[in-house]
Amino acid sequence: MVSHKIGYLGFGSYTPSRVLTNADLEKVVDTSDDWIQRRTGVRTRRIMGQDETVLGMALKAAERALKDASVLPGEILDIRVAVNTWMRFPSLATQVQKELGIESCSASDVSAGCAGFVYAVEDAHNKILAERALYGRELTSLIVGVDGLSLVTNWKDRNTCVLLGDGAGAVVMGVSKSSEILSIHTEADGKYGHLLYSDDVLGQQGKSSDPFEFSPSETTARPYLHMDGKKIFPVAVRTMTRNIKEVLRKHNNMHPNKKIDLPEIDYVYPHQANVRIIRAVADALEIPIEKVYTEGIAKYGNTSAASIPIGYDETRARTEDRLIVDVAFGAGFASGAILRRA
Ligand code: ACO
Repeated sequence: MVSHKIGYLGFGSYTPSRVLTNADLEKVVDTSDDWIQRRTGVRTRRIMGQDETVLGMALKAAERALKDASVLPGEILDIRVAVNTWMRFPSLATQVQKELGIESCSASDVSAGCAGFVYAVEDAHNKILAERALYGRELTSLIVGVDGLSLVTNWKDRNTCVLLGDGAGAVVMGVSKSSEILSIHTEADGKYGHLLYSDDVLGQQGKSSDPFEFSPSETTARPYLHMDGKKIFPVAVRTMTRNIKEVLRKHNNMHPNKKIDLPEIDYVYPHQANVRIIRAVADALEIPIEKVYTEGIAKYGNTSAASIPIGYDETRARTEDRLIVDVAFGAGFASGAILRRA
């Protein structure tokens, strides 16, 4: 029987080999290993070396995912790259396409903060469904979550520099016999934009009415990340908790005879921003912490759009044939969740 399920066919990840420890950070800002571990859960993070780039990380993760899925680059018809640290054009997705040697496919970037990967999966899934319904064509998609947060880190700001790291993760999605996306929910709340943002290097906000006015300093500044962590924390817990409930509710509304309740969920991949946020979400939903991925934050810090797919690759043995929820939250206060069978 021909399967109509759409799910993950394979995944891969890449993190730079350069390790930055809490002890290293003690030398540059007023902090301590004890504070960082207790308040955030981070022990180490990976930072791109001189010869590494956001494109290079995306490419390595993508190549590993394709190999894992036994899919050739030429079979990919759609590429979505979730990224917050590719502040230029052409899009990163088109450059991944070029480097993979794919002659023709659709390709675009997705910008939704640390929730970008969930948004990218939703976009790719919707496109696969639309192509099938409208044109009778089955697509195979490549979805990458990548960020080089070290590029936007102010290494003098102890509130943020201890949290962030670099990395990439990727999945191949298409028609699958076993794996299946069951429901996806996304939302955003732009009124919180001022609590987590990067500098506006192009001067959009204070743009002069004189089109010839030009300030060289504006174009060379780094778009540093700024965050009011204390105010974000409770909203992150509430929002991720709500997203998990919502993705289950959506599924159950559509499938009243195949309802899935929280205790049936085998494993949860939350965005890795702070281990205390992850624990608070698990507590709020009474999910045993053993069922929740937490190792990423300790090992890699917050890798933004990459944290969830890096988790897939690191823990693949735990999730085969299981019911999974992915949940993310980040800037813009964009957030989202995926309910799927792995
Ligand atoms: N080392 C030592 N002390 C520090 C450090 C540090 N690295 N950073 C802050 N402190 C100090 C503060 O100055 C403050 O001192 P004070 O009491 O004398 O004023 C004290 O520690 C407590 O600071 P808080 O901000 O209250 O610390 P908190 O426990 O809230 O932890 C943190 C801060 C880790 C940022 C936390 O609030 C958090 O994780 N917030 C949410 C982050 C998040 O989810 N962001 C969204 C996703 S990330 C993204 O999209 C890129």
